[in-house]
Formats: sequence, structure tokens, C-alpha cells
Amino acid sequence: MPAEDLKRAAAAEAVKLVQDGMRLGLGTGSTAKHFVDLLAERVRDGLKVVGVPTSEATRAQAQSLGVPLTTLDETPELDLTVDGADEFDGSLRLVKGGGGALLREKIVAAASARMIVITDETKRVERLGRFPLPVEVTPFGLEATRRAIAHALAVSGCAGDIVLRHKADGHVFVTDGGHFIFDCKLGIIPDAEGLADLLARIPGVMEHGLFLNMADAVIVAAQAGVTIVGDPAGRAKRT
Ligand code: A5P
Repeated sequence: MPAEDLKRAAAAEAVKLVQDGMRLGLGTGSTAKHFVDLLAERVRDGLKVVGVPTSEATRAQAQSLGVPLTTLDETPELDLTVDGADEFDGSLRLVKGGGGALLREKIVAAASARMIVITDETKRVERLGRFPLPVEVTPFGLEATRRAIAHALAVSGCAGDIVLRHKADGHVFVTDGGHFIFDCKLGIIPDAEGLADLLARIPGVMEHGLFLNMADAVIVAAQAGVTIVGDPAGRAKRT
């Protein structure tokens, strides 16, 4: 089955969890895009939901498909967020931000009673760190912030290059919030919780791509079928 079909299969499983009246967080990326497509089909069939997009790209897609939208100012508590991930491990820990929307994604997920992740089997890792860890930073004081990140990485036992993200046209990548992203090529993150704490203490760091203790379940589409890691109904971790 082609990769896009796997992503759509995971998204289709997640759409089944959506119920009338839900307030939804709408993720960003190629897998989340399938979810918004499939959600829009149910909205056209009469489903009543409202969504908070995690990026301008998702906002544009949802608007064009007629999915009703709101904001966290109008609707500060959400029932369910469905989003993709760049990698996940057996403890439902995630790395996100490959699409550059990590700050809004984390704000929206944190405002949600549940977070369901949709992925294909290629995103599963034994240990986090295979995917370069995105760290969103404010442009002011960029080099000082880069050095502080390097120090945090070293203290938490990580090693690897810290690369300022650029677009294909050579310009620096700028997030929806006007920030830059450092991609930290670590290979292995031996202490994700420790690293997350250290990164969160750096003033120039807006957010990092470690999503720990946030996902309730990961829906994984593989050639052999769709499996679910965790409890899609669960609130075990954040209660
Ligand atoms: C966006 O910033 C990311 O966190 C995405 O959720 C992540 O990159 C997964 O994207 P794909 O579904 O395109 O792999």
C-alpha cells in the first residue's frame, strides 16, 4: 500500500472517534491533512463540530472544505486533538515539528482533553532522536540561544549538529508565529524528560518538539493493518 494510503487509513480510524458536538484540535502535516479531508466529508453529511487549526495551512484547508473553525480565545477547552508526529516510542512520547507548527500544536494539544496521534509504521522508534528535534526560537539573540541549546543538549547526554532550518528557496524558515527553528540532529535522546526541562528554561526557546505525557493513543497504519497503541478514550496520563 502506498505511504499516502497508510496515512489516510490512520486518519480514517481517527475520524471514527469524532462525535457530534465535539470541539476539535486540527493538526498539521500530510497525515493530519487526510484527517481534515475525511472530517469535512462527515461535516457535509451533517456532523456538527468546531475546530481549532494548529497552523495557517490547516486553517486554509479546513476553511476551504467548510469545516467550522473557532479559536482558543473563544473555545479554550477542546475535547479531542488529532495530529501527526515525526516519531513516537512505546511510551507514547513524540517528536513533532517537522512541519514547523510545533508551538501551536502543543498549545492546542495541551488545551485538549485527549490527543490522538495518527501515523504510519515508519514513525515508530525504539528510542527518540532519529528525527532531528525541532526547537522553535525567537530571532532575537539567535546565537546566544543556539549556545544555550547546545549546553542543554550536552548536559542531557546528547550530541549532534544544531542546524537553522531553511526553506528550499534558501530563505530562513519562519513559523506562523514569526519564529525560527533549530533542528537538532541527535540520533538518540537518552533522557527526553531531562532535555525537555532544560530546553524549557532557555528564555529564547519558544517551544521544543518533545511532546511528553500528551498523547493518549497513537493510531499506526501498517501494511498489515491499523493498530492502536494506548487508549483512545483514556485520560490516564494527565489526570
Ligand atoms: C508539524 O509541525 C508536525 O508536527 C507534524 O505533525 C509532523 O511533522 C508529521 O507530519 P506528517 O504527517 O507530514 O509526517
